[in-house]
Amino acid sequence: MQDLILTGPTLPSALEALEANFNVNRMWEAADREAFLAEHAKTKFMAATYHGRVDAALMDKLPALEIVSNFGVGVDGIELEAARQRNIRVTNTPDVLNDAVAELTMALILALARRVVDADSYVRAGKWPSGNYPFALELTGAKVGILGLGRIGKEIALRCQAFKMQVVYHGRSEQAFQPYPYYADLTEMAKAVDWLVCVVPGDTGTKGLITREVLEALGSKGHIVNVGRGPLIDEAAMLDLLKGGGLGGAALDVFEQEPKMSEDFWTLSNVVLSPHQGSATTKTRWAMGDLMVRNLVAHRDGRPLISPVV
Ligand code: NAP
Ligand code: 8YV
Repeated sequence: MQDLILTGPTLPSALEALEANFNVNRMWEAADREAFLAEHAKTKFMAATYHGRVDAALMDKLPALEIVSNFGVGVDGIELEAARQRNIRVTNTPDVLNDAVAELTMALILALARRVVDADSYVRAGKWPSGNYPFALELTGAKVGILGLGRIGKEIALRCQAFKMQVVYHGRSEQAFQPYPYYADLTEMAKAVDWLVCVVPGDTGTKGLITREVLEALGSKGHIVNVGRGPLIDEAAMLDLLKGGGLGGAALDVFEQEPKMSEDFWTLSNVVLSPHQGSATTKTRWAMGDLMVRNLVAHRDGRPLISPVV
């Protein structure tokens, strides 16, 4: 069997499939990373299952590396240009997670609009007998702007329509045959919408895309939802505006330096926080693991990759 480097822990189903096909070497368990890499320098296969970077420096220590199969659709943890330069193939796990991520997005939107988390705390704290909980927001008729009408964004758009919301979108270019109005300018879209849902990748020039100006355009009645990547948003500016009432609310699944975040977020009732759970259902995580392994096996067997990125 061929050697494979597994960068981090993975699901039992994926591990079983990897071990059925490869001799699996666990990089995260190595006491001495450099010695591990020297020992496995001839390895051709890598399964990337953690958020640490697979960068040029790591690739240089594995000169025989042929493929990095990523557990996740977002490949911002892999230095793609370095992989290209070294003829290393990179695969990801698109589409199998669209529904799960779209579902969590709706859960976050609903939780924030109807204050589900705060209302639950209100009941548990025994406050209901002394007074009714305040009124909340309704989604019906509200306008939602989707930043990133891609595979996942389109599934979110469909679900928002089912909630009778008006959908518009922004991306780098207008897409043909989409039923939703396009905004070429993100700030203009933010001004026009009640909800701004971010679902763009982390590595396509999106760092800092949601500036203070965009957040201010969204305004005191606007709400932001981020299921893309944390660094898209100027987190300090967002926190500042949330505290001061300049931004209505935020529902966040991803953070600039996750799992770390300012503890100030924990004190705000106009915020819903989620620990990067977009794809975290049993069914979807199984499918992601399966696709990660099938890409590796396809490469080993000389067949076309199923979901190549590079
Ligand atoms: P996708 O199909 O490639 O869609 C990405 C969309 O983003 C495209 O519509 C693209 O449109 C737009 N976009 C890219 N760069 C942009 C930029 N600089 N400015 C404006 N728009 C830009 O990707 P996907 O499969 O939907 O996944 C999207 C991302 O979701 C992933 O990369 C990952 O970061 C995140 N994600 C998060 C979770 C989670 O657990 N929270 C789970 C899965 C995925 P244009 O090309 O027209 O600009
Ligand atoms: C994570 C995601 O990869 O697919 C993505 O881009 O962000 C998630 O599905 C998943 O949490 C595994 O780390």
